[in-house]
Amino acid sequence: MPNFNIAVLDGDGIGPEVIAEAIKVLDVVADKFGHTFAYTKAPVGAVAIDQTGDPLPEYTLSLCKKSDALLFGAIGHPRFDNDPSAKVRPEQGLLRLRKELGLFANLRPVASYDELADLSPLRPERMKGVDMLIVRELTGGIYFGEKGRKDNGNTAFDTCTYTRMEIERIVKMGFVEARARRGKLTLVDKANVMESSRLWREITRELAQENEDVELNFMFVDNAAMQLILNPAQFDVIVTSNMFGDILSDASSVLAGSLGLLPSSSIGSTVGMFEPIHGSWPEGAGQDRANPVAAILSAAMMLDHLELREEASAIRGAVNKVLGQGVGTEDLRPTTKVGTREFGDRIAAAL
Ligand code: IPM
Ligand code: MN
Repeated sequence: MPNFNIAVLDGDGIGPEVIAEAIKVLDVVADKFGHTFAYTKAPVGAVAIDQTGDPLPEYTLSLCKKSDALLFGAIGHPRFDNDPSAKVRPEQGLLRLRKELGLFANLRPVASYDELADLSPLRPERMKGVDMLIVRELTGGIYFGEKGRKDNGNTAFDTCTYTRMEIERIVKMGFVEARARRGKLTLVDKANVMESSRLWREITRELAQENEDVELNFMFVDNAAMQLILNPAQFDVIVTSNMFGDILSDASSVLAGSLGLLPSSSIGSTVGMFEPIHGSWPEGAGQDRANPVAAILSAAMMLDHLELREEASAIRGAVNKVLGQGVGTEDLRPTTKVGTREFGDRIAAAL
């Protein structure tokens, strides 16, 4: 009987509640398909700072390194957001985790649900057929480049550096994902201004020669922001750098109508991390109001990554079924409004 060790990093705010529902659903999958999932919890983020002073304690990191996958809730607390100069911040835990585990690719799928078309800020006809995947580089670029101050603190700099190796591995992943979907890849960059973007284009053109079955196009990031609003259905797979991917994936995440629906995976060479893209929503914590679907679909992405594909699609089927019945948390403006736990119960029962 296959056995998987899963590190569970609930994090802050609503993190623990939504992850509890993901585990509820995973337990049903385990039963049905004859697997054992062993969960071990560890602190990360503001919770970890309170307990240990460190947003990513050594214990948490070493647990992650020896696990088969990580389920991650959310991090962040307003007490830090209001003080951007705080020396220790919850986000540092997440950034270090990505770097230490070599999670160089962040995959964020965005699809429209017909039942929820009214929730989108765009007119329903613009949302027809939206089904895209953003592949964001996650461990390089301006997030991790040289940064600092000079001139007695009066000049500040952040540098965007990319190596051939870093670009090649993420663009290759973009081609692979595109091939498995509708065969279209868009490189988003700022090659009219930035030298690092020109290197991305050069390497992508080279790789295109070994991937002629994938239709490739290039788009400047400012235009891409516009196109995501005007005609999001044109995109299949977008591949882009760390910062551009951060911004564009947040922009596209609201298209579907609720942040509470969208999962993500962060993968690289070893263990993968799976997390809802929403934040920690501290005001909603402990109130049984948060939408657990993003966490549950993140668990499905985890199963896909562990090559349990049938299990993953069973979860997606159960989510679609319950959404189709008009059941949901308040963010979905459903006909039958339920709390976090009941939403999880219904999805588990639909399996
Ligand atoms: C995300 C978040 C993080 C990022 C923050 C919390 C550091 O916005 O996962 O997109 O910017 O990468
Ligand atoms: Mn972000």
